[in-house]
Amino acid sequence: MLTFPSGFLWGVSTSAHQFEGGNFHNQWHEWEQRGEIRSGHTCTPACDWWNNAAHDLDLCRDLGLNTLRISLDWGRLEPTQGKWNDEAFERYRTLLRMIHARGMRPFVTLHHFTHPTWFEKDGAFLNGSLIPLFVAYAERAVAELRDLCCDWLTFNEPNVYATFGYLFGEFPPGRRNQVRDTAVVLSNIHRAHALAYDRIHGLQSEARVGLTTNWTEFQAATASPADRFLAYIYDGIFNRSSFQFLRSGAPDFPFGALSPNVPEVIDKTDFIGVNVYNRLYVRSPFEFSRWSTGGIFVLPEVPQGDRGVNLPYGEAYPAAVLGAVREYGQLRVPVYVMENGVPDESDRIRPWVIVNTLKHLHQLISEGFDVRGYFHWSIVDNFEWNEGWTLRFGLYGLDRDTQQRKPRFSASLYQQIVAANGISDEQLSRFSEPPSPVAPTSGN
Ligand code: BGC
Repeated sequence: MLTFPSGFLWGVSTSAHQFEGGNFHNQWHEWEQRGEIRSGHTCTPACDWWNNAAHDLDLCRDLGLNTLRISLDWGRLEPTQGKWNDEAFERYRTLLRMIHARGMRPFVTLHHFTHPTWFEKDGAFLNGSLIPLFVAYAERAVAELRDLCCDWLTFNEPNVYATFGYLFGEFPPGRRNQVRDTAVVLSNIHRAHALAYDRIHGLQSEARVGLTTNWTEFQAATASPADRFLAYIYDGIFNRSSFQFLRSGAPDFPFGALSPNVPEVIDKTDFIGVNVYNRLYVRSPFEFSRWSTGGIFVLPEVPQGDRGVNLPYGEAYPAAVLGAVREYGQLRVPVYVMENGVPDESDRIRPWVIVNTLKHLHQLISEGFDVRGYFHWSIVDNFEWNEGWTLRFGLYGLDRDTQQRKPRFSASLYQQIVAANGISDEQLSRFSEPPSPVAPTSGN
């Protein structure tokens, strides 16, 4: 039996746009209206949380979870610049009360990829002069909700937001190959984090303020110096950027040359989150905009969940958590695995992912890393950004038309792990190998 420390947090992560439905004032809705969602799906009603979150919160309680991560949709709260929507604040207050009533500690993310359309129109985080508007929103949100939450994440995955928006063209604003803009966006987000960190502490002395980053293993496809160098570059830009900002105020060479220095962010985090899912392979020639044929791809024979619309989602790689925690653990603040999961409609590979990620996490705790919690992504299938409803991440399946939830095997597996506060020998041996075949069959 691998037992976790007492008081370990067991949760799931969610985000406003992917769960609530009716988030019509943010840039992702605009992106959808422009026909940019690759799957062609629409988001609303999502999991209908704006009308009825109780259903899924009850499922979380029944799994025995003691924590839940949600996010706020800034566009709902400030649909027009400077005009606040009190009803939306009241709805979030109700949601937080419902989470507490079910025995769970809420973690609230202020920016999980979405912001108001007016903020996007003026350049969002590429435009440094807009940073005070984000900080004002953070201040307002914390002032309104501080009696109901102490754990705040300013940003979800600055690295995904910046690279998918400005390097790969996958997220709004859909720009490609803008290396310098990517660097500037990353600097501005970390500057915004530093300012929000101070303001939140000014408002709430007991607040704990952090952020969460995505960590993806980049594996050189061959031992050639070119492939290894490119894997190193990706690792630096993508995986280590938040670490380097929090450590020294700027990314290391070569990316640091493009990113304005942010000395005020050094050490400004009370905890750190890592979101771990994948391993990707890197091969030269390097082309930022082509994932499958040029720079980044997935070996066909490795364990994988379901495929995205055009591209594989990535190798399901539980050991990614080792690199993530060994790097971010050096910040010497509590670490949370804020997201982990796999798109897997038939629950073919998810049990293996959960058990083996937790096995590695247990090892990290034995090595002395201060890991305080694990949040699975997610409780129920939800709107997966550009992939719409094609990628199913839920412990529970969702029928969008009827809003019925159906448990997958992984729900009961996770429930047993949470109840035992650990993984049994039987679970370890039953899920020691990825199921065969490891890759999804064609068509999904
Ligand atoms: C994001 C989630 C997303 C999940 C699965 C993370 O990068 O924070 O919003 O649904 O990955 O792809």
